[in-house]
Amino acid sequence: MHRIRKAVLPVAGLGTRFLPATKAMPKEMLTVVDRPVIQHAVQEALASGIEQLIFVTGRGKTAIEDHFDHAFELEATLAARGKDDALQTVEATNFPPGTIAYVRQQEPLGLGHAVWCARKVIGDEPFAVLLPDDIILGSDPCLGQLLKVYEGLDSDGANLIGVEAIEPDMTRKFGILDIDHWHDDGTSFTARGIVEKPEPERAPSNMAVFGRYILDPSVLKHLDRQERGAGGEIQLTDAIDASIQEGVQTLGHLCEGQRFDCGSKEGFVLANVAYALQDSAIGPNLRPAIKALVEEKD
Ligand code: G1P
Repeated sequence: MHRIRKAVLPVAGLGTRFLPATKAMPKEMLTVVDRPVIQHAVQEALASGIEQLIFVTGRGKTAIEDHFDHAFELEATLAARGKDDALQTVEATNFPPGTIAYVRQQEPLGLGHAVWCARKVIGDEPFAVLLPDDIILGSDPCLGQLLKVYEGLDSDGANLIGVEAIEPDMTRKFGILDIDHWHDDGTSFTARGIVEKPEPERAPSNMAVFGRYILDPSVLKHLDRQERGAGGEIQLTDAIDASIQEGVQTLGHLCEGQRFDCGSKEGFVLANVAYALQDSAIGPNLRPAIKALVEEKD
C-alpha cells in the first residue's frame, strides 16, 4: 500500500454553537485543558507519522496560523527569564517549514467541498482526513491505529474509515456505513455503501463515521462533480459512496480510545473533564473536587 504522508484538516466551520465564545476566535482554538482543540488533532496526526498537514481554513481563522508559528517576542522573553519548560511547550507548536499548508474554502459548501479545496495540494495519492472537532483520548493515536490496518491491506487502493457504534436513534447526526461482512478480528468490516445522516428507519447499520478517514484519491474525482447531498451540502460521504460503488475496497474500523465531540457543548465540556482527570498535575486534586460537586448537585 502507498504510504500516507498527507492529512487534510478542515477548519473553516463557523462554530455557531459556541457563540459568543467564537465571535472573534475560531472554534478550533477553544481549549481542552491547556491546548486548543486543533492541537490535539495535529499532535495525533504527527504522532501517527503524517508529514504534511493541509488546513482548509476560512475567514477569521488566522489565530490558527499564528498558533502554529514562531512567537518571537514570547519565545525570547521566556528564554531570557529562564522559563525553559514554558519555552519548550511553546516550541512544540512549531514545525519545520512546509509541514503545514493552508488552503482557503471561500464558501461554506460542505465537508466534501472543504476536502476538494485541498485537492491540488493532496495530488494523486491516498491521504488522511481528520475532523478536529473529534478528539480521541487513548494510549495509541487513533489515526495511527487506522494506518496500521491500512498498511496490512493488500489491494492497490482502499478507503478506511474510523467508526463507532452509536445508539440507533442517533443516525441522523452521522455518516453511516452499510456493512457487507465483518472480518475475523471483529474490529473491521468491509462496507458496501455509506449514507450521510439517514433517518433511523433508513439507516443501514449503527456504525457511524467519526472524524478519521484514510481515502483513496478517486474520492477527489467524485468530489469534482460538486453534487449536493444531505442538507444541500457537498458531502464527503457521497463521494466515498461513489468510490465504493466503483469497486474501491472500503473498510470501517473500530478504533480504541474514547471519542469526544468538541463540536457540541456537552462533548467539549466532557473532553475537558476527561483530559483534566488524566493530567498528572491537576487530575489528582480535581477528582475529589468533581466528585464533591456532583454529589452536592444530586
Ligand atoms: C461530519 C460528516 C459525518 C460524520 C461526522 C463525524 O458531519 O459529514 O459523516 O459522521 O462529521 O463527526 P458534521 O458533524 O460535520 O455534520
